[in-house]
Order: sequence, then structure tokens, then C-alpha cells
Amino acid sequence: MSSFRIVVLASGSGTNLQAILDKLHGRDGVEVVGVGSDKPAAGALERGRAAGVETGVFPAADYPDRPARDAAMGDWIESRQPDLIVLAGYMQLLSAPFVGRFRNRIINIHPALLPSFPGLDAIGQALAAGVETTGVTVHFVDEGVDTGPVIAQREVPVPAGVSREELEAAVHAVEHELYPKAIRMIAEGRVRIDPSDPRTVAIAPRDD
Ligand code: GRF
Repeated sequence: MSSFRIVVLASGSGTNLQAILDKLHGRDGVEVVGVGSDKPAAGALERGRAAGVETGVFPAADYPDRPARDAAMGDWIESRQPDLIVLAGYMQLLSAPFVGRFRNRIINIHPALLPSFPGLDAIGQALAAGVETTGVTVHFVDEGVDTGPVIAQREVPVPAGVSREELEAAVHAVEHELYPKAIRMIAEGRVRIDPSDPRTVAIAPRDD
């Protein structure tokens, strides 16, 4: 496979970034070429540095408004020449111009089976709703909150009496499998948004 360059944006501890670094980075032409964050103290930045990846920090307080911050972050991202921007716990809304600038090249992972439980605290929402099954969704990012076309989903059972911590651990374990797999499919050129139906994502089978 020819080179496939990824920039990861993360606000938190970055366990999904770590799974991407461990399972994809430096293999089969896939390279993480940047880790960006809005939080100077994000653990994800430390994980990026430890892997020798360039980092960029774009705190909201350093810019007059979100579009200005996103423009600066977009310039830095573009300088890394990525094929794909991977949101991994990036807790800021992205402005419409940023989404348009990188149309169909931004993906996100969400800890629920979208369209159920979008937005903040999806795991808490699932527990409050009393569902028997929740899950994980990887999707393209559009201008809405967790509304973009779905690339991959996997279910996670919610056993009766499960604690929040137990369910979080189960969801994260699935995330750490599903996200690298979905990114690999994209790197292999197997993921296409259907031009005649932009809500639909087609996944081509593997050649081998
Ligand atoms: C994950 O649960 C992801 O689904 C959500 O943010 C969390 C990030 O966790 N978007 P981590 O920083 O990768 O550990």
C-alpha cells in the first residue's frame, strides 16, 4: 500500500490514539503524522510525543472565536498533508468551514449505536435509558453533532446491574478494536460515500 497519512485530534487521555499507534502506525504505509489538541495537558499529546509524532496545540482561549481557531488548526493539519483526520475524543465542535475544508476526510468514533444517544455522555444516556444493547459507531463527520454517514458499528451488551465503570471498559475495548479496523479499511481505499446517496457508505470487500 502506498503511504496513508493520518492526523489525530484528541482532547483527553488518548487511549484510542494509542490503539491507532499500536495497531496501525508504521505498518503497511499507514503513518500518524500529527496529533492535535485543544488541551495543552491532554495525555494524547504525550502519547504522540512518545511515538515521535509532531504535535500541535490549539486552545480556544488563544483565538477570538472557533472559526479562527479552526482556521489555524486547519493550516497546521494541511501542513502535515494528511489523507485522513481522525477525531479520537476531540471534545470541541468543529466549525462548518473546517468541515467543508476537509469534506469526507474527517472521521469520529462515538460510544453508542448512532443515531441513538448522540452528543455528550452517550454511555450515561444508554444506562439512563435502560437499553439492553449499546455499542460503538465510526462515522464521517458532517456539520451536525454525530450525524455523519456511518462507516462501521459494533454492539456492546448492557448486562442488568452493570456499573458505569464496567460498561465504559467494555465500550472502550470495542473502540480500540473497531477504530483501527475502520481506518485500515479507509487506507485500503475500500470505503466510499455513494455520490448518489451521500448518507450511504459502501465498503468494498478485501482483494485477498
Ligand atoms: C471515547 O469513548 C470516544 O468514543 C469518545 O471519546 C472517548 C475518547 O477516549 N469520542 P480516549 O481519550 O481515546 O481514551
